[in-house]
Amino acid sequence: MPNANTNLHAAKKAKNDEFYTRLEDIENELRHYKAHFKGKTVFCNCDDPRVSNFFRYFALNFETFGLKKLVATCYKNQNADLFTQNASEQAVYIVYEGDKDGNRVPDPSEMQVLPLKGDGDFRSEECIELLKEADIVCTNPPFSLFREYVAQLMKYEKKFIIIGPGGAVSYKEIFPLIKNNKLWVGFKPFGGGMDMIAGRNYDASKCKHPKYDSHGNIIINVMMCIWFTNLDIPKRHEDLILFREYTPEAYPKYDNYDAINVDKVADIPKDYDGMIGVPLTFLDKYNPDQFEIMGRSGDIEWAEKECSFYTPPTPDLARKYRSNNKTWRIQNVYLLKNDIPQICYSRIFIHKIK
Ligand SMILES: C[S@@+](CC[C@H](N)C(=O)[O-])C[C@H]1O[C@@H](n2cnc3c(N)ncnc32)[C@H](O)[C@@H]1O
Repeated sequence: MPNANTNLHAAKKAKNDEFYTRLEDIENELRHYKAHFKGKTVFCNCDDPRVSNFFRYFALNFETFGLKKLVATCYKNQNADLFTQNASEQAVYIVYEGDKDGNRVPDPSEMQVLPLKGDGDFRSEECIELLKEADIVCTNPPFSLFREYVAQLMKYEKKFIIIGPGGAVSYKEIFPLIKNNKLWVGFKPFGGGMDMIAGRNYDASKCKHPKYDSHGNIIINVMMCIWFTNLDIPKRHEDLILFREYTPEAYPKYDNYDAINVDKVADIPKDYDGMIGVPLTFLDKYNPDQFEIMGRSGDIEWAEKECSFYTPPTPDLARKYRSNNKTWRIQNVYLLKNDIPQICYSRIFIHKIK
């Protein structure tokens, strides 16, 4: 059976980005943001309403959330047949402004299906116009365009709750946003994958034991999918309870950064005030009132230009380390054992502020 990694890899290779979000995952995440939606226009800009559970979720919860308007744009959509029988050559956008006939159901007749001039690309002028009118953007955008997608949200200063690849936390375009508290991880815990609905073109023969949902859709576990948001959520203000005591033996310092190594977030010592290197999963517990994020390992530009605690080896030692361990890189964190660099996983450097 293909694992999550091969599934994601196949998705990347095919460049189809066609994994759809399940309603239960949307429900599990978005119920924590209810207070943010009152009187707001929600925009789902990578969502074919025939299949988008984002659109479905907001339409069904329109009155509960007290939404003002729901808009979805369909990318290269040929036929918005959920809401109209009229086949269309154009992409369309759908506007829903709530239940009009009092039956508490979003009926097709209550949806305005309007033509787009282009193909519904979120970067197009007409989609940007819709974006400008929106208060909160909510979707699972194509992962291959994640950087551009987030940059656009930032440019137009939009609030958002979106799904993205977990690895994006280390992207050079995304990490500074996390560091500067402009974007953070949502409620769903950081690790693990997310079950997603495979698109129409997914080759079922890739799965030896395919898993199906009740509608007969193939369900694929996509590894390391996480929610990103810039809406304030209670999780972000919960202190991480620290109970370990610092000792130099238990918490060795890296050779190339004046920071101690912590392998598990739960082991961050309660009494160490210097720099600490923690795994990326720390972002799940990050409370900006408790810790400050300083940077991340692997970012040579930051290390050389900005980091005040970067302590690179001499060129001679660097050559020696490289010959002892071919995977060694000067900017990645490592501990020395008998003069041989022991490379650690990616780390985020933090320090306590209370
Ligand atoms: C990962 S899928 C998720 C679909 C849907 N948002 C969901 O969560 O179920 C990404 C969607 O973005 C659409 N897409 C790809 N490129 C796009 C673009 N440039 N502009 C808008 N949508 C795009 C794809 O067709 C696909 O339906």
